Amino acid sequence: MPLGYTFALIKPSACRKNHVGPILAMINQAGFRISAIRSTKLTKQEAETFYEMHRGKEFYDSLCEFMSSGPIIALLLEKDNAIEDFRKLIGNTNPDMAEEGTIRKMFAESLQKNAVHGSDSVENMKREADFFFNQRERY
Ligand code: CMP
Repeated sequence: MPLGYTFALIKPSACRKNHVGPILAMINQAGFRISAIRSTKLTKQEAETFYEMHRGKEFYDSLCEFMSSGPIIALLLEKDNAIEDFRKLIGNTNPDMAEEGTIRKMFAESLQKNAVHGSDSVENMKREADFFFNQRERY
């Protein structure tokens, strides 16, 4: 997969509060093209596998419980410099530290319910995209 992709999730809390439309609009306005999109709901076990790199941390179980608590939106996004630019668009993981105008500043409720996830490296982007999308679902 070329480097101009990132993988993103809109988390259950943001879906529950009907923030999907505004978040997708911000993503498009920032110049990202939606290559693949799916509404789905993770089992607890799937959330544990997706967040495998955090296994053992004190927030891991609660995070996986939350991430499997309701529907989510999975996204594969295309743009030059996608991983870095998307992380700028969403802001700091902790919404208290997120910059004005970022998605997390606008829509996050807490560190855990921080509205969106974005890949932090090419390696994780590939693993996360493969977790949700097969090749025929990517355009
Ligand atoms: P996300 O980008 O989905 O990647 C891992 C998630 O774990 C992160 O966003 C936060 O929602 C959550 N997280 C990270 N650090 C903490 C923490 N210290 N306490 C609780 N949740 C955390």
